[in-house]
Parts: sequence; structure tokens; C-alpha cells
Amino acid sequence: MEYRILGSTGLKVSELCLGTMQFGWTADEETSYTVLTTAAEAGINFIDTADIYSRWVEGNPGGVAETILGKWLKKGVVRRHQVVIATKVRGRMGDGPNDEGNSRRHILNAVRGSLRRLQTDYIDLYQIHWPDEDTSIEETLCALDDLVRGGQVRYIGCSNFPAWRLMQALWVSDRRKLARFTCLQPHYNLIHRQEYERELEAVCQTYGLGVIPYSPLAGGFLTGKYERGVTPPAESRGSMSKRIQTYMQDDRVWETLAKLRTLAEAQGRTISQMALGWQLTRPSVTSPIIGPRSLEQLDDNLGAAGLRLSPDHMEELEQISQEL
Ligand SMILES: NC(=O)c1ccc[n+]([C@@H]2O[C@H](COP(=O)([O-])OP(=O)(O)OC[C@H]3O[C@@H](n4cnc5c(N)ncnc54)[C@H](OP(=O)(O)O)[C@@H]3O)[C@@H](O)[C@H]2O)c1
Repeated sequence: MEYRILGSTGLKVSELCLGTMQFGWTADEETSYTVLTTAAEAGINFIDTADIYSRWVEGNPGGVAETILGKWLKKGVVRRHQVVIATKVRGRMGDGPNDEGNSRRHILNAVRGSLRRLQTDYIDLYQIHWPDEDTSIEETLCALDDLVRGGQVRYIGCSNFPAWRLMQALWVSDRRKLARFTCLQPHYNLIHRQEYERELEAVCQTYGLGVIPYSPLAGGFLTGKYERGVTPPAESRGSMSKRIQTYMQDDRVWETLAKLRTLAEAQGRTISQMALGWQLTRPSVTSPIIGPRSLEQLDDNLGAAGLRLSPDHMEELEQISQEL
């Protein structure tokens, strides 16, 4: 496993980050522990979670993925200082009007919940999950700055921010001398490129932000397991995801998948490894966040570690997917 510097910080993170959204959703607790331990043994030191994972599961109050991660940390497979824990705040964690959002009140409340569930006294990377139209960015950054100065949080980041909001946040941090976002977590993969590449990529490169894309396999579509015209199997993400069902109607997406398949076969790689390899070769990307729900999927994803595509293969993939 290779390690990369996260943006302009001095923090070294594994080139694959392990996501935990599937914990307590499509992966049960025991499987989640196995995935965590195997990932750590393979050298992954970077783990992404969020307070709301997986609140959308019926009967689940949220915080389940953080709780599983916290219990695993206590098992002693790794020492706390050996891993970089990233979590997020913004989503709804209760029924009250202040149980969500990026207000000072909610952030300071939410961080206590995350620390308790993670059974740790600091979070390495605390991310704003998505923007909040009701709260000024000044208020949000002041609250985050207090957490950094207070030692509960080491670095701050954001996810799902458009370029103008990210620029605004960097400008406010600079003007007010507050902690600044050191990392962006965008939705980015070979069939969802424009949202990030249009402007965000240039912002991150110009201002030295780390980039940790989520859904690098398009929720599983870029493994090649779905077939055109065939309803996704009941247990797969495709059966629950409107986005995957939309991909299944798009000819350009299937053309990109076909190209990926051809290149993968020629290289003796799986399709998912080639899709991850493409991200690992993009100069602005620090660590794609993988989301395996089984050991088999993790093994496959881990096979991409160290993979770098040739300029010709990058060009072929980017030509065919350029409008996606
Ligand atoms: N910031 C945000 O808003 C946001 C949003 C989403 C995710 N995230 C983060 O990013 C992480 C990764 O996102 P993601 O889960 O969408 O990533 P992904 O890598 O695009 O999709 C992972 C899913 O693809 C399928 N899969 C993976 N490897 C496979 C293989 N070898 N064979 C067959 N199927 C395979 C599995 O789904 P099935 O087997 O269930 O079909 C797996 O759960 C999350 O855990 C979370 O930490 C953040």
C-alpha cells in the first residue's frame, strides 16, 4: 500500500480509503469487523464514516457505522494513532429543528455524539457532509475552528460542495484566520466526471486540497456485474439505487463500461480494479473511498492498490467518457 500526503497537510493516508456506509446496511456487524481488519492488514490506514450512516435503514437511528468502527477500534487490531478517522456532520440525527445542519449548535452537539460512538477523544478529519442553506459559512467555520483549537478535531474538510461554495469557504477562512478545509470529498467516478472536473478539480489543485472521491465504482455499476436489459438482483445496490437504474438506460455509460472491460481483460485485471486504477492515476486524486460489503469485494478492490494506467489507456477511457 502506498501512502499519499493529504493536500497541503503533512498527513499521510493510504491511497485507498475504506468507506463504511455499508456497515449496518448491506454488511452486518461481524462482516464489517472482518472487512476493517483485513483492510488494516493490507495497509489501509484511512477510514471514512459519517454520523448518519445508515439512518435510512428501517429501525436504525443513525450512528451505527460509527458505533461499529468505535467497537472495532477498541478490539486492539490497530492502535488509535495508527489510523486516520474521517467522519461527517450535517445530516439529520433526530426529530428536532436543530438536529441537523451546519449551525454552531448542531456541529458542537454532533461532534460529541461522534466522539462517543467512535470511542475516541479526537477525529482526524471532520467533514461537512453537504452545504446548509440556512447557516452562514462564517458560523460553520468558526465552530469548526473552535474544534480544531480545542483538539477534538485535527483537520476539517467538506463534501458535496460546488466550486463557488468551496472558494467562498477558503476565502472566509483566510480573511478571518480560521481553520480551512484541507480536503474535498466529491462524488466522482468514470461515469460521473463533469461535476468534479468542470471546476472543483482546478480549485483543489490550485489551493492544495486533498481529494477523496466517493462512489469510485458508481455504487457497483463499474464492476461490470449488471447486465443491459436485466433487472438488478434483489440483494445488489442496483436494486435500491435510482442512480444505477438511470445508468442502465444510458448508451454512453455502457460504451464506457465496454471500453473498461476490454482494457481490463487485456491487462488481466478486473473491471473494478481498472476503474479504481483510473482514479489513482488522475493527478488531483489523493485516495478513492471504496465501499466493499464483503471480504471478496474488498480483496478485489485491494487489487487496485499500486495500479497506474498508461497515458494511452487514460486517453482511451477519457475520450469515451468525456461527456459523462
Ligand atoms: N460524502 C457523501 O455524500 C458520500 C456518499 C456516498 C458514499 N460516501 C462514502 O464513500 C464510500 C464508498 O461509496 P460507495 O459505496 O458508493 O462506493 P463504490 O465503490 O462506488 O460502491 C461500493 C459498492 O459496489 C459494490 N461492489 C464493490 N466491489 C464489488 C465487487 N468486486 N464485485 C461486486 N460488487 C462490488 C458493492 O455493492 P453491492 O454488493 O451492495 O451491490 C459495494 O458496496 C462510502 O462507504 C462512504 O464512506 C460518501
